[in-house]
Amino acid sequence: MTPTMTDPTTATTTRQELIERLNDDLAREYQAIIAYVVYSQVLKGAQYMAIAKELVKHAGQELSHALRISKHIDYLGGMPCAEPKPVILTENPVEMLRADLQNENETIRAYRQRVLQCEALCEYGIAEDIREILREEQEHQIDLATALGEDPPDLSRR
Ligand SMILES: [Fe+2]
Ligand SMILES: [Fe+2]
Repeated sequence: MTPTMTDPTTATTTRQELIERLNDDLAREYQAIIAYVVYSQVLKGAQYMAIAKELVKHAGQELSHALRISKHIDYLGGMPCAEPKPVILTENPVEMLRADLQNENETIRAYRQRVLQCEALCEYGIAEDIREILREEQEHQIDLATALGEDPPDLSRR
């Protein structure tokens, strides 16, 4: 058993709280779509062309995540939100990649919690879908860290 499984915030999650948290996740997915659409086009410099192509792929995957999360919110009886988390606008390639990496780190932390919360409510189908999304978010994290010349950060501790 991992330490987070005994986290009291996980154990006491209600269906309503899960809807609210999933709406936070959806706002992060919208943020990711917007950031990848903008950054994939604005990135300049020969050394960034490979990652710019990857960001185009990320944008499509983030749209798929947003559709899946909004489906689960509707299934749980909630209303999917329509507001993204804020997106940093910059022309500095490293700042763009750094912002994307930080957002992916936040997303991965959030979805790890969400899987536990879904399972605590016996919502195994949603948990399974979030696990699949999580796998893609981790690939995004690796792509960004690699482009920045770093190892992916260890998110097992905050
Ligand atoms: Fe996503
Ligand atoms: Fe992502």
